Amino acid sequence: MSPNANALIPETFPPLPGLDALAEVALGSSSDHGAADAVGYVITVDGDVPAALGLDRDALARAGFESKVGQTLTIPTAEGPALIAVGAGASEEQTETNLRDIAAAFVRAASTHGDLVLELGATEVDAETAARALFEGAVLGRYKYTALKTTSTHVPLHSFDVTIDGGVKEAIQRAASAATIAVRATIVARDLANTPPGHLTATNLGDIAVALGEEFGFSVELFDKADLIGLGCGGLLGVNQGSAEEPRMIKLQYRPEGRATGHLGLVGKGIMYDSGGISLKPSDPMHLLMKMDMGGAAAVLGAFTGLRDAGVGAQVTGWLMATDNMPSGTSYKLGDVLTARGGTTVEVKNTDAEGRLVMMDALVLANEDEVDAIIDIATLTGAALVALGGATAPVFANERWMARLALDAAAATDEPLWELPLETKYRRQLDSDIADISNLGGPFAGATTAALFLAHFVGETPWAHLDIAGTMQSEKDDSWRSSGATGFGARLILEAAKRFSIPS
Ligand code: BES
Ligand code: MN
Ligand code: ZN
Repeated sequence: MSPNANALIPETFPPLPGLDALAEVALGSSSDHGAADAVGYVITVDGDVPAALGLDRDALARAGFESKVGQTLTIPTAEGPALIAVGAGASEEQTETNLRDIAAAFVRAASTHGDLVLELGATEVDAETAARALFEGAVLGRYKYTALKTTSTHVPLHSFDVTIDGGVKEAIQRAASAATIAVRATIVARDLANTPPGHLTATNLGDIAVALGEEFGFSVELFDKADLIGLGCGGLLGVNQGSAEEPRMIKLQYRPEGRATGHLGLVGKGIMYDSGGISLKPSDPMHLLMKMDMGGAAAVLGAFTGLRDAGVGAQVTGWLMATDNMPSGTSYKLGDVLTARGGTTVEVKNTDAEGRLVMMDALVLANEDEVDAIIDIATLTGAALVALGGATAPVFANERWMARLALDAAAATDEPLWELPLETKYRRQLDSDIADISNLGGPFAGATTAALFLAHFVGETPWAHLDIAGTMQSEKDDSWRSSGATGFGARLILEAAKRFSIPS
């Protein structure tokens, strides 16, 4: 490691604190209120109010509690566990997404307590599905990145039990396992994206991937600078040129037991810190978020931790393209021409459009490996944030079924996507006078021109591209998102991998 402030990082620094905390959480179905220090009662607008609350609907209404989804009211008690009313809206409108939000609201209302029980009672949603959504909402809602606070008042979740009418213990246990796999993916992604850039270099990310691969059943191959020169990965090397830190290409491989249902390629943008390079970003608050510019790589790595345990039937190969983007005397410059793996030449018109440059090499390598389809995920453009804000990410695809796969997975995990057109009319904006293509489009439709750049390297392979620049972080706690890095895309990609199969 280069001699910088990293040298001061204590040996005990935990790179994945949220993952460590997850191992301490017990999810289950006990209704033993004696062991709990807070009990939540889910209350719909139209159903019964549980007698255990000691209040009727009128009394709740007088306290301003209207049973809206995510509304909570803590009822003062002299002894025993804290009692919390948790609003759930209309009972016939109950969805997995609502249930996730309900559990997240409850754990936040009970933030000083570690052992929680949530009584859902009757629900229209099947009990196992409902329990899984509640578990996910609880764990993700309670997440907080505290690794670098010398003292923290955050109380981690210790146990979370749910009771559901008609929910048998075995079904709830299955739900707990499924939820653990899914939230693990998100938590790994959050931990990595929340980690400051000085604490997480491309080299560190590679080492962490190796450790995760050993634990969760996938193989990891690391490519250092010399290897990348050998491979001709001019995009990743070009962006890395100004950095004191080495780049890493991190190749992840998962093979299912038995015959694979297809081969899915995943590509993640792993810019450990995006200063803009020579096209330096201004020092506005947005600059602070650029430690999260590896959110795409983090989502892919998070998803990989779930492939084996979720029993994914497809073969999955991932490429994480990791480097920072720094200005210095050795930086790549405006006007430089980079040569991608495979020989395509690229004129650099803006060094801040670096994501597409590191991704192009990976897309070429994925095609060389003859994957059946590619999903890439990247914090690629400010234009994605401008277009759709922080709640929804644009998805671009070159085939209907790839868009459908991504949109359906997104609906299931509540990581909302909206499809934008891959408008080929704009393709000429990327034309270059001196090279095959340039890395900069015009002033409008920036998310689209970035996607068109990637499409050039994808070719005919079925492909979906997720631009998570807007959704990578949240300013405040909001449903399953907790403030800071959201881990957006990790569960979605795991879900898409589960659903992926090529008709033979
Ligand atoms: N990492 C940024 C995109 C980004 C912006 C992510 C805001 C998260 C929040 C990306 O590398 C970038 O700088 N994109 C430029 C592209 C432009 C120079 C064509 C942008 O969006 O301004
Ligand atoms: Mn940039
Ligand atoms: Zn970037």
